[in-house]
Amino acid sequence: MHYDFSQLSARNAYKLVVSTIVPRPIAWIVSQNARGQLNCAPFSFFNAMAGDPPTLVIGIGSRDEGGPKDSLRNIQETGQFVINLVNEELARSMNVTATPFAYGVSELEKAGLATAPALKVKPPRLAASPVAFECQLIQTVPASATNTIVIARALACHIEDRYLLDAEKCYVNTPELKLIGRMHGAGWYTTTHQLFQMDRLTVAEWESAR
Ligand SMILES: Cc1cc2nc3c(=O)[nH]c(=O)nc-3n(C[C@H](O)[C@H](O)[C@H](O)COP(=O)(O)O)c2cc1C
Repeated sequence: MHYDFSQLSARNAYKLVVSTIVPRPIAWIVSQNARGQLNCAPFSFFNAMAGDPPTLVIGIGSRDEGGPKDSLRNIQETGQFVINLVNEELARSMNVTATPFAYGVSELEKAGLATAPALKVKPPRLAASPVAFECQLIQTVPASATNTIVIARALACHIEDRYLLDAEKCYVNTPELKLIGRMHGAGWYTTTHQLFQMDRLTVAEWESAR
């Protein structure tokens, strides 16, 4: 089967993308409007695009009834936000924060989530999240009338001490983070348990293995 995206409805194009490009990490974003009201929501159109300087991207759609989602509104208003990563323990609270509450309502209160101050940006990080990136907006790029790509630089990273193997060398115990990923369809997620290891080959190794 071949699909020509120019012939597909927006809904079907979305279905093909989210049911095949998996697993997707989840950016659990805490942002703040100019009046200081906090907002929190998850986004799985998310990834890292560069390590130095750490450059992160997020894709944000529109509200069902039209208009920008609160996270985008706040990011454009203040230029700052925190991306928290989601582990298995936090999955249900993360899901509560995806509820489309009215603008100005704090999902943090609704989900009973505590915050801790960030070092370099105004919005706080989620205290319970094992990893958080403090972000400064670089640019927003409109992908369409209803989708915006947010490009940001991470200014600081917080990792809970118990997940560090060697803080000096920046060695992280990644499997212990027990992060979750977004999968296909309505509400499917994956854990990050079933790992396998594969070393990169030199040309000589590839030739001798042929
Ligand atoms: C796991 C998960 C991933 C999501 N990923 C996205 C995404 O990448 N882009 C998006 O626009 N909405 C995404 N959503 C939906 C938003 O979280 C939802 O619309 C939320 O209400 C937006 O909140 P806000 O208006 O406070 O920003 C996702 C929801 C869940 C549960």
